[in-house]
Amino acid sequence: MTRVFSGVKPTGHLTLGNYLGAMRRWADVDQHKADALFCIVDLHALTVDHDPARVRRLSRQGATLLLASGLDPELCTVFVQSHVDEHARLSYLLECVATDGEMRRMIQYKEKAAREQARGGSVRLSLLTYPVLMAADILAYGADEVPVGDDQTQHVELARDLAVRFNQRYGHTFVVPRATHPAVATRVMNLQEPLSKMGKSDDSGPGIVYLLDEPDVVRKKVLRAVTDSGREVAYDREAQPGVANLLEILAACTGGNPSDLSGVYETYGSLKKDTAEAVVEVLRPVQERHKELCADPGYVEGVLRDGAERARAMARPTVDAAYRAIGLLPAVTDIAVSAGR
Ligand code: TRP
Repeated sequence: MTRVFSGVKPTGHLTLGNYLGAMRRWADVDQHKADALFCIVDLHALTVDHDPARVRRLSRQGATLLLASGLDPELCTVFVQSHVDEHARLSYLLECVATDGEMRRMIQYKEKAAREQARGGSVRLSLLTYPVLMAADILAYGADEVPVGDDQTQHVELARDLAVRFNQRYGHTFVVPRATHPAVATRVMNLQEPLSKMGKSDDSGPGIVYLLDEPDVVRKKVLRAVTDSGREVAYDREAQPGVANLLEILAACTGGNPSDLSGVYETYGSLKKDTAEAVVEVLRPVQERHKELCADPGYVEGVLRDGAERARAMARPTVDAAYRAIGLLPAVTDIAVSAGR
């Protein structure tokens, strides 16, 4: 069976973009057709300035929202990265396979580092090595497929390169993974800046719909979305990015098609109104389930405990094999087990 691994960073509140672009599909498709693991990658949240209490809070909330959006612990494994030591153990080995030049070529690193330097600041060393930890996340589980957004393709390519290189040097140890992108991707853009992605990390609120926004807040944000200077409702990403974004959101929420929908609306106002209601309706069951789960924190803790145990059992043999393959002497307890090898 195909093994799928993906992760969410607890660096901000999850958004409509996370939901329509990834989480909904994980619940509807991936967890049914594959042996799937979904991870709150909290170690990755420490690569930028962070507030410990906030990371803790967002980790719990992220896990709760994954369950609220339909991930079923009977079907897939939901867990927190730092609960499974194998990620950090393997990351170090992969640092001994990756090169400094390779890391410095990563687009996301270059962009973030340049932004920091322009402000006279510095970046954490872990921001540079972040893609190696991400490779460890994927390789530890022998994942074949990694469903991610376009911005993560280069990181998954690096994981492939490291797997191939390790296997060539030290013997076959890792499955070589590949990034997958849904056939019809919903790339939700910021409602105020329709040329940039609706990301969770930039905390400025008005263009971002958060999964836990109250219905009235959702309505207000959608009704205030930036539209374009034309008058007609046309589906044209280049000429009318703001309107196109609304049409895509509406289509994703109602199961329609953005260009068909563009013919239905005469005014921007009516498009916004229907889009707002469609988003409210899509979020309603997620928010209801989230509320139920919050009322039962023991349940979420139990899911994460079981998930970590399952994840550990999956990752341990591969990471142990990598330790042996790269030349590390087994500890005494392991020698008994692997006697003769
Ligand atoms: N880097 C990913 C992001 O920013 C999150 C991530 C970390 C991830 N480890 C992963 C995604 C492993 C897929 C697989 O979105």
